[in-house]
Amino acid sequence: MNSQSHCLVSRRALLQAGAGLLLASALAPFPARSASSDGYRIVAAPARARFARPDRPETDVWTYNGTVPGSVVRLRQGERARLVVENRLDQETTVHWHGIRLPNAMDGVPGLTQPPIEPGKSFVYEFTPPDAGTFWYHPHANSLEQLGRGLAGAMIVEESEPVAVDRDLVWVISDWRLNDGGGIAPRFGNRMEAAMSGRVGNTVTVNGRVSEAESFLAGERVRLRIVNASLARIMALRFEGHRPTIVALDGQPCDPHEPENGRILLGPAMRVDLALDLGGEPGRRYDVIDDFYDGLSYRLTQLAYDARRPIRDHSVDAPVALPRNPLPEPDLASSERHTLTLQGGMMGGGMMGGGGGMMGMGHGAVWAINGQSMNGDGHAGMEPALVFERGRSVVLELRNETAWWHPMHIHGHSLKVLSRNGRAVPHRQWQDTVLMAPKDVVEAAFVADNPGDWMLHCHVMDHQMSGMMTVLRVA
Ligand code: C2O
Ligand code: CU
Repeated sequence: MNSQSHCLVSRRALLQAGAGLLLASALAPFPARSASSDGYRIVAAPARARFARPDRPETDVWTYNGTVPGSVVRLRQGERARLVVENRLDQETTVHWHGIRLPNAMDGVPGLTQPPIEPGKSFVYEFTPPDAGTFWYHPHANSLEQLGRGLAGAMIVEESEPVAVDRDLVWVISDWRLNDGGGIAPRFGNRMEAAMSGRVGNTVTVNGRVSEAESFLAGERVRLRIVNASLARIMALRFEGHRPTIVALDGQPCDPHEPENGRILLGPAMRVDLALDLGGEPGRRYDVIDDFYDGLSYRLTQLAYDARRPIRDHSVDAPVALPRNPLPEPDLASSERHTLTLQGGMMGGGMMGGGGGMMGMGHGAVWAINGQSMNGDGHAGMEPALVFERGRSVVLELRNETAWWHPMHIHGHSLKVLSRNGRAVPHRQWQDTVLMAPKDVVEAAFVADNPGDWMLHCHVMDHQMSGMMTVLRVA
């Protein structure tokens, strides 16, 4: 039997292999199955949240179903889902199901794919998710403020055969800019900030609270799904004393591998699924550090081991690879090739383009793609920058000519990342959000098989709002 094809052992086999597994009573695991995958009701409404200790003030937030992050939506691969979104905010909204390859009319881009949902109104989203994996949902209207005030949630599409792990955990990581009174700092869309790193906050939460520690049992194997739901914060996570294996990126399984230099790089909107074997000592705590920004490293949380002896004598040796999703393989030989050049922003003390005027950039824009700036959240009449015949294989060359990082997100498709700065990218990585370092050149391929007008934009929300967005049409 080769290890490629043998990617799963059944959950039961794993449980039998583990001696004295008392997880259900020890720690609340995520339910293995959602109650139903149809008829989800998601209400967008204001609420209050407590991010930190009880002696700290509460924060006014905007929520899905009353909490930040919103409730985890669990769907099943290949099964039709129905999600009713009700808007109880005092402004228009939509929901974008980030990373799901769904019909264009369900994509949640106001003006482009649907009329916005007015206050007091509802919209029914219906689609059949083709891919299992870790996705998320968020507004695509007034995105900077709506996401910045808390509207975000994880969406998990379950494999048809459950994967063999002791627990399946989700960490939705959010970054907030709070003022002294505990409120969310107003003034979204500061132009200077928009031309730089975007609105990076001062408080990072895991599943809606500042996390002192997360509880684990020695010997267990967890699948840890991490979602970076920040507006702008890029993360580089290190798990002290552990060796997590990356098994999926942006919901798409990849060849299992350890992160480069032990750092898991996650730009806004990116997800990673880790297979994490808890091989540490009972009773001990291990730091999880985010050291992306020079000199600003901080502890995200700790892995806190229960004092009991390990739940199994030997570490699990079942393979960790996930079953692949049915992504169409691009035919590189016959593909068409296009370049998308990212431009603008602050460069060595001034705006690129010089003279205060931004070359070719419209009103309010500080960024551009191929010299064109689309800004905002999406609206009617956006002309596509590229038009593909349905079924064509396409290679996109993304060139970052700016001095800043950009997580570039494509709607309706997933990109097979081929190379970065001339070096082949290993591990068969498919991503819907590709993090571009300053001056990076990335080649990525996909089959343009999903008809409609699709956004491609930077997921640093300030960058999207101020011009780093374009539309691709699959005709
Ligand atoms: Cu996650 Cu166009 O967005
Ligand atoms: Cu950007």
